Amino acid sequence: KRVAVLVSGNGSNLQALVEAAREPALCTCADIALVISNRADAYALKRAAAAGIPSLVFNHKEYSSREEFDRAISEALEKHKIDIVCLAGFLRILSAEFVDKWRGRLVNIHPSLLPRHPGLHAQRQCLAAGDTESGCTVHFVDHGVDTGPIITQERVPVLKDDTEESLSERIHQAEHRAYPRALRLLATGRVRLAADGQLIWHS
Ligand code: GRF
Repeated sequence: KRVAVLVSGNGSNLQALVEAAREPALCTCADIALVISNRADAYALKRAAAAGIPSLVFNHKEYSSREEFDRAISEALEKHKIDIVCLAGFLRILSAEFVDKWRGRLVNIHPSLLPRHPGLHAQRQCLAAGDTESGCTVHFVDHGVDTGPIITQERVPVLKDDTEESLSERIHQAEHRAYPRALRLLATGRVRLAADGQLIWHS
């Protein structure tokens, strides 16, 4: 399966996917074939270049609407014959049109144990709530913000003296394991999204 990763920033999850896709468990089923960023200065683009992966920049400010921006991305994904789209720190909300078009082939990673703490600053929300446990979630994207069906999660403890930074770092480590695992499940057809929005698992 040809995989595109959409990024806006650092791209450590992109890096984890790239490295995992070189391993035997993933290399036969997933090829990270394209990186798309909405920001020309995203460090993730340097990671893509270093890995020899083609990348494209679509500056959302150059488009008259969210739909126009998303259509440009969709066209690029189709041109590159992409099967699976992984959002990895992509800081744009995607239009309903885009989500519908890529439904079942579009996944996101979020730094909390969804459905707890959707949206921005999930780690800050977690600390403010006094949770003793956090983690990350990889899920299919639906029309809500961080609401789609969950493919996999990974838990981490919240320590007594955690700051937003220390907790984020621990969650990031978990993300780098969870995202490759989720991609493997998806790319090998172990999990898919049914028309009614339920997950179907195959052994
Ligand atoms: C991750 O914490 C992810 O959960 C969130 O954005 C962050 C991206 O980090 N959606 P990176 O750019 O992959 O390092």
